[in-house]
Amino acid sequence: MTIHDELENFYTERCDEASRLGSSVKGRLELARVRELLGRYLPEPPARVADIGGGPGVHAQWLQSDGYDVELLDPVLRHVAEASAAGINAVLGDARKLPWEDEEFDATFLAGPMYHLVDAADRRTALREAVRVTKYGGFVAVVAINRTANLIGATVANELIERREVVADILRDGFSAGNDRLAQATYHTVAQLRSELIGAGLRAVSIHGLTGPGGWLTVMIDSHYKGLALPDSLREPDPLETALECARLADRHPEMVQASGLLFGVGQRD
Ligand SMILES: C[S@@+](CC[C@H](N)C(=O)[O-])C[C@H]1O[C@@H](n2cnc3c(N)ncnc32)[C@H](O)[C@@H]1O
Repeated sequence: MTIHDELENFYTERCDEASRLGSSVKGRLELARVRELLGRYLPEPPARVADIGGGPGVHAQWLQSDGYDVELLDPVLRHVAEASAAGINAVLGDARKLPWEDEEFDATFLAGPMYHLVDAADRRTALREAVRVTKYGGFVAVVAINRTANLIGATVANELIERREVVADILRDGFSAGNDRLAQATYHTVAQLRSELIGAGLRAVSIHGLTGPGGWLTVMIDSHYKGLALPDSLREPDPLETALECARLADRHPEMVQASGLLFGVGQRD
């Protein structure tokens, strides 16, 4: 099975990406934090933004509503069709070979290619492509999954005993052939993500905790209370607000990035 077949199959048959960010507390945290962090680095609208691996366009939609001129690219047919139906300019394609001219965009965003491209050379190619289509001085922002996310997530969900081998593989190699939760994926250490962004020629590289330490509260709720009424202590105050506040506070302390399941890396084209 090629990487495209695997992605096509996963995102067509097994995962409804269009609802992922709205249907769980963790998804809502991810969406809110992407808006918050991207918002820190994007120029004022109307600027041109490329959403590479943009899926069905959940981020592209709020970017467009905020006044940005967005182009989305994704290799999965269903995603491109859903994004187009939502009014987004969307094309079928691969982050490793972008169909755009040099310096077409004020900013580029890759939330998908960095973890779905398991070969380091492919990630290098994708990052160089993103840099190529970004204007000098513009930002390239990426989402990656922390190498430790499966260890902590499986523990919080009380699934570590059953998933021990996969978790151990990922901690050791950043990859597991037995990982059936996601289409093929790689898991970055913070240092590795930083070095990949610097290696692509970006400067002023920062790595933020996207979901932050409070993301584990949302994983706990999603995994143990799916379909159940939440007890009062998990309804008030809203755990999403708690997790957001935690991520913001942790963001002031760079060492806390290690405690975040998702990483948001960003750098500027030199
Ligand atoms: C988990 S989804 C995230 C979608 C969206 N970016 C978001 O953050 O909500 C990962 C996306 O990355 C896309 N993707 C995977 N490999 C890619 C590649 N080589 N080039 C472009 N997109 C890719 C997938 O098709 C999928 O839509």
